[in-house]
Amino acid sequence: MSAEEIDRIRDEALAALRAAATLEELDEARTRRLGKRSALAELQRTLGGLEPDARRELGAAINAVRGELAEAEAARRRELEEERDRVVLAAEAVDVTLPPRRPATGHLHPVAETMEAMLDVLTGLGYAVVEGPEVETDWHNFDALNTPPDHPARSLNDTIYVHRLDGVEAVADDGSTGVLLRTQTSPMQIRAMLASEPPLYVAVPGRVYRSDTPDATHLPMFHQIEGLAVDTDLSFADLKGSLEVAARALLGDDVALRFRPHFFPFTEPSCELDAWYGGRWIELLGAGMVHPNVLAAGGYDPEEVQGFAWGMGVDRMAMLRHDIADLRLFVENDLRFLSSL
Ligand code: DAH
Repeated sequence: MSAEEIDRIRDEALAALRAAATLEELDEARTRRLGKRSALAELQRTLGGLEPDARRELGAAINAVRGELAEAEAARRRELEEERDRVVLAAEAVDVTLPPRRPATGHLHPVAETMEAMLDVLTGLGYAVVEGPEVETDWHNFDALNTPPDHPARSLNDTIYVHRLDGVEAVADDGSTGVLLRTQTSPMQIRAMLASEPPLYVAVPGRVYRSDTPDATHLPMFHQIEGLAVDTDLSFADLKGSLEVAARALLGDDVALRFRPHFFPFTEPSCELDAWYGGRWIELLGAGMVHPNVLAAGGYDPEEVQGFAWGMGVDRMAMLRHDIADLRLFVENDLRFLSSL
């Protein structure tokens, strides 16, 4: 066995180990070059037949080659493992700097948002929230609210009456005729009084209807919140104080407010409340001390109790809060408009 032959075995084995392109190939190369059936092992098996000196010499040479090959194998293994880890990490990498994909979330419609904000304030003041029917009788909507039959608000121009499809006059559940779409939330004043004894503090949100042609400031359907307080010791000062607190909670503490005399059939005296907003006075609501005839229609004794009431337009308040110039945007449901808010 010549030294050249050992060198040849070593060189071939080293080349094979270094050329392994995968961990599997490296395992294979190790078995072939260092295993029991390798040229090196075969050589080792010849040691027994040699003279002691030659045996020692060849044995040392074989051991040296074995050590060298084991080292080369380990080095190549480290390289291949590192490379495998790099590939796996790259494949599984998460780029934490990428912007997240946010699910598109909705939000309340500006009118609903304004409604909720108002009702929050009112419930904070002790009012109970109640709702009433949108299809009403003209007794609740007008007569009981001290609105005489010849009042202009009753004209067909303003009020949408409900008819049966066959043209026969519609009759309400309670047998009354004169069925209409309520023009205001005020009829719930009557229903609330008829339903419970004083003292009474109720807030009534809801849709109301008038036969108006839609434009920037009018819609045939819009929203009001009615307030009614009835107790044994209520004065106009209570009305002013309550409405001021509510208006400031909604529009800010420093908003300028003014009460202006007005007329409503169901209140006496009556007023309107304006807020200075965007450089002009904006009408927020109508209000007043509940007319004795209205208390009586609700089954209350006007000698025993007094009340104040108000009705405010929610849509106009939403226009102020969201800086919107045209009411019609509220009902078109254009997502470009709604999601811009
Ligand atoms: N119902 C009135 C309207 O629609 C608003 C209103 C004014 C309601 C005065 C009231 C009130 O309760 O006292 O224009």
